[in-house]
Amino acid sequence: MRGDRLGGMNSEPRRVEHQQTDRGNIPVYAAGTVEQPWDRYSRTDHEVWAQLFRRQREILKHRATREFLDNQERFGMSADAIPKFDDLNNVLSLGTGWEIVGVEGLLPDQVFFDHLANRRFPVTWWIRKPEQLDYISEPDLFHDLFGHVPLLLNPVFADYMQAYGRGGVKAHGIGADALMNLTRLYWYTVEFGLINTSEGLRIYGSGIVSSKGESVYCLESNAPNRLGFDLERIMRTRYKIDTFQQTYFVIDSFEQLMEATEPDFRPIYERLAPQPAFPAGEVQASDRVIHRGTGEGWIKSGDV
Ligand SMILES: [Fe+2]
Repeated sequence: MRGDRLGGMNSEPRRVEHQQTDRGNIPVYAAGTVEQPWDRYSRTDHEVWAQLFRRQREILKHRATREFLDNQERFGMSADAIPKFDDLNNVLSLGTGWEIVGVEGLLPDQVFFDHLANRRFPVTWWIRKPEQLDYISEPDLFHDLFGHVPLLLNPVFADYMQAYGRGGVKAHGIGADALMNLTRLYWYTVEFGLINTSEGLRIYGSGIVSSKGESVYCLESNAPNRLGFDLERIMRTRYKIDTFQQTYFVIDSFEQLMEATEPDFRPIYERLAPQPAFPAGEVQASDRVIHRGTGEGWIKSGDV
């Protein structure tokens, strides 16, 4: 049986069904937490990790924010083997009181928010196949662990993630529009955020650091817009899920991110509700433009 992960020979995630949503046909997984089946990773699994780890560390050397790279070292992440969640948790719990929990895959919003609100970060336990090195449409262990976990050691970013989770629980109670506003904030910061540093623009978003192509494109291509961080602007901005982003938002510091989440979002949601959303690639007159994208190669349709 496919779902009999503990009894069978193959390590397969417990995928429950597929669900048609506005983001396409997405897999639905069992929503509970699981022990990381570390002993069951195959040699191929470890090799996939090693290849991705080496490749991204090289690409990110002068592209990711220094803290992201340093924190991977503080965790002892290396190409040698897939890290053990327990080892990472020893470092993480002492550092910021966060904890990694193993999951089967994407979680329902409410479950995900509840984890974050309680300083638990869900990490998909399985890793992509060798033929998916360059692209996988859903989060796997490499994306979650390599991409998300390092910045959880930053105290301010760690608090931001918790505030986001609490905001998510609230938004869920308010309605679908509020949830969409908040999802865009996560997308343009946690997943695809850039940060201004004394060394220049650097990447901190997990969706970027776990992608070979986007790690270069987001900083070096003339095509995308790079705009100053603006909470309400972001909450109104559609995004791309199947191509590189057309717009990146740049923060000056993690403190700026944290401060932006301090006000109650409810009045903001109410203000935004009657206003139309901005297309992913459109620059607005009020934007603080760091780079106006040429739009080269963009697919105009398909914003989420
Ligand atoms: Fe992610």
